[in-house]
Amino acid sequence: MKLAAVAVLAVLAGCGANESGGRPRAGNAFARAYPVFMHARCMNCHPAGDAPLQGDLSLVHAQNVQRGPDGRGLFAMKCSACHQSENVEGLRMPPGNPNWHLPPADMPMVFERRSPRELAEQLRDPKRNGGKTLAEILRHVEEDGLVKGCWNPGDGRTKPPMSHADFAKAFREWVESGAPLPE
Ligand code: HEC
Ligand code: HEC
Repeated sequence: MKLAAVAVLAVLAGCGANESGGRPRAGNAFARAYPVFMHARCMNCHPAGDAPLQGDLSLVHAQNVQRGPDGRGLFAMKCSACHQSENVEGLRMPPGNPNWHLPPADMPMVFERRSPRELAEQLRDPKRNGGKTLAEILRHVEEDGLVKGCWNPGDGRTKPPMSHADFAKAFREWVESGAPLPE
């Protein structure tokens, strides 16, 4: 079903309102998804600074690895020098994906230290989200390999605090109710 059609059905079914007089409750859907964005698996690639972060403690990446203009590293320290197309087996070995990189320097898509409201605002702003529509952001959350890979993080790393299906469902609910800002 098309996104718009689903949204209309949701409104007709009254899903966007709560008992206390039609105030949208979809801000709550964002609040449900928020802990995943803030989890180390996601935040380590969405840092405030110009270096990726590592591990469950989100320490600054070893070997002075830097974002670089295109997010793929600087000089000899290209991400692909160590991050292969799949996870390397063994404790604290580099996780892998053929497209392993950070967002580019001119569009860093920072999650670190964003409040729920700040993050929601940023995700729906094409000037800060890579020029995407909300439907495209939703598709990214549902299908992108870097996102889904966080649920296969490699030895010694925890998974985000809910299943990918539940995360995608909460995010879809937020988008389909018009992506309201949480309190
Ligand atoms: C010299 C090798 C090397 C290079 C170059 C390198 N990495 Fe890493 N990276 C590693 C290793 C090893 C780990 C695992 C460290 C650990 O778990 O303690 C890692 C872990 C990470 C993690 C943490 C994953 C997680 O979920 O905790 C991120 C994010 C990351 N690298 C991003 C990058 C990016 C982006 C680049 C390029 C800009 C890059 N790395 C370049 C070796 C490298
Ligand atoms: C290996 C690094 C990496 C990991 C891990 C990662 N991302 Fe990203 N993410 C990126 C890059 C690079 C982009 C921008 C490139 C693109 O559009 O494909 C991006 C873009 C996004 C976007 C769309 C643009 C925006 O406004 O931020 C969303 C949403 C997103 N990521 C969510 C997540 C979530 C949720 C997780 C964890 C489940 C995650 N990412 C894990 C690298 C990563």
